[in-house]
Amino acid sequence: MMHVFRPTFQRFTIAALSAVALASAASGEVPSDNVTTFEPTDTERQIFAEPGISFAEGADIYATVCAGCHMPEGQGAIGGGAYPALSGNENLEYPDYAIFIVTNGYKAMPSFGHLLDDEQVASLVNYLQSNLGNSYEPTATPDMVAANRPQPD
Ligand code: HEC
Repeated sequence: MMHVFRPTFQRFTIAALSAVALASAASGEVPSDNVTTFEPTDTERQIFAEPGISFAEGADIYATVCAGCHMPEGQGAIGGGAYPALSGNENLEYPDYAIFIVTNGYKAMPSFGHLLDDEQVASLVNYLQSNLGNSYEPTATPDMVAANRPQPD
C-alpha cells in the first residue's frame, strides 16, 4: 500500500498538501501576500470542468463565449473593432447565416466550429433567433450545422 501511487491517491495527496499550504499561509509561515485564494463560482466550475465548452443551453453558451464581443443583450459595440448588434437583427430570421458564421467564422468574427458540437451550435442559433430582442421561430437543427462544416472530399 505504501508505494502504490494510484491516481486517486495522488489527487488526495495534492489536495492534502494544498490544504497544508493554505493552513500555513493563514498562520503566517508563508508570506501571505504571495498567496491568492480562489473560490470558483458555479459557472467557473462548469467552464473549468473539462476542455471545450461544456454548456448545452444556447443562453449559457452565448453568455460565456459571445457576449464578450456582442455584449450581454446583443447590442453590439464599437471599440477595438465593430461588433454588430445581434439584437433586432434581420439576418437571424433564417438560421443558415448564423450557423455558417459561428461554425466557420467570417472576417473578424472567430470560428467556433472546433469548440462547439452540432447540438451546441443549433441551441445557440435557436437562442439568437428567439431572444436578444429577436422573435423569429427557432429553426436551427444539428443536421444544418453538420452540413455547414467542412465536408470530406
Ligand atoms: C472576438 C469577438 C467576437 C466573438 C467572441 C464573437 N463574435 Fe460574432 N462577430 C464578430 C465580428 C467582428 C463580426 C462582424 C464580422 C464582419 O462582418 O466583418 C461578427 C459577426 C457575427 C454575426 C453576423 C452578424 C450580421 O448581421 O452580419 C453573427 C450572427 C455572430 N457574429 C454571432 C456570434 C456568436 C453566436 C458568437 C458566440 C459563439 C460570436 N458571434 C462571438 C466578433 C465576435
